Amino acid sequence: MGRLQTWGQESVTTWESLWGLPHFEAHDELSSTNDRVRVLAEEGASAFTTVIAGTQTAGRGRGGKYWESSAGLGLWMSFLLRPVDGGNSILTPLLVGLGTARAIEALCPGSQPRIKWPNDVFVNDRKVCGILCEGVGPDAVVVGVGVNVHQRQEDFPADLSDRATSLLAAGCSGQSLARMAGEVLRQTRLLVEPLPEVLDEGLRNELGKRDALAGRMVRTEAGQEGTAIGVADDGALLIQSDGVCHTVRGGGIRIV
Ligand code: BTN
Repeated sequence: MGRLQTWGQESVTTWESLWGLPHFEAHDELSSTNDRVRVLAEEGASAFTTVIAGTQTAGRGRGGKYWESSAGLGLWMSFLLRPVDGGNSILTPLLVGLGTARAIEALCPGSQPRIKWPNDVFVNDRKVCGILCEGVGPDAVVVGVGVNVHQRQEDFPADLSDRATSLLAAGCSGQSLARMAGEVLRQTRLLVEPLPEVLDEGLRNELGKRDALAGRMVRTEAGQEGTAIGVADDGALLIQSDGVCHTVRGGGIRIV
């Protein structure tokens, strides 16, 4: 167990240069890849320093929820962003989600990945990827991406199996974790370097086409209910109730 010299078919230094990363680490096992990137950030690591683990013993999701990270079954990866002025906190997970959705579409054509605002990617109406962004000081954000890749539907714990899926369970078998990692990093980089202050029309259109919530009745963490009608140019979720449009800038969303 520990830090690896070789990951998949290649040496760690080969991945580092293939993906154009300032620093890449692969580990058999970590508590959480977000924790490892946080340590590297505190030591002054550069943007897109990236860490992957085969398994995580304390993988976490938003709100401190446990994130199931079984050995070799998914991509458990974190990387560092250093947005100027801390960046727009809603746009970061949204654009990483968009990059991940593009990567899934590229590797699994026809899978039609959808983004559930602000930080999940869905396939077939089930969650295939979660994104966890955690600030480190004023100018660094650790972005954790968990993509379920090789699980069979029955591998998910009973309380998750009707809400979670994997690429395999969605009919996209034989995917390489390395290809997925490289594509997520490449697509995300195109979207967040530099991190925009607002979404341009092209991004809003793409998010609109990939919106898992559009037209659905949702409930915010604060208990507000309404129909999701899209994303504003600052990344806020727009919901409509009784003819009034409300903007939601934080917290989780449930489909009612
Ligand atoms: C969520 O859906 O709430 C976010 C899940 C994020 C999981 C990933 S796996 C890699 C990274 N390390 C963690 O501990 N969490 C993220």
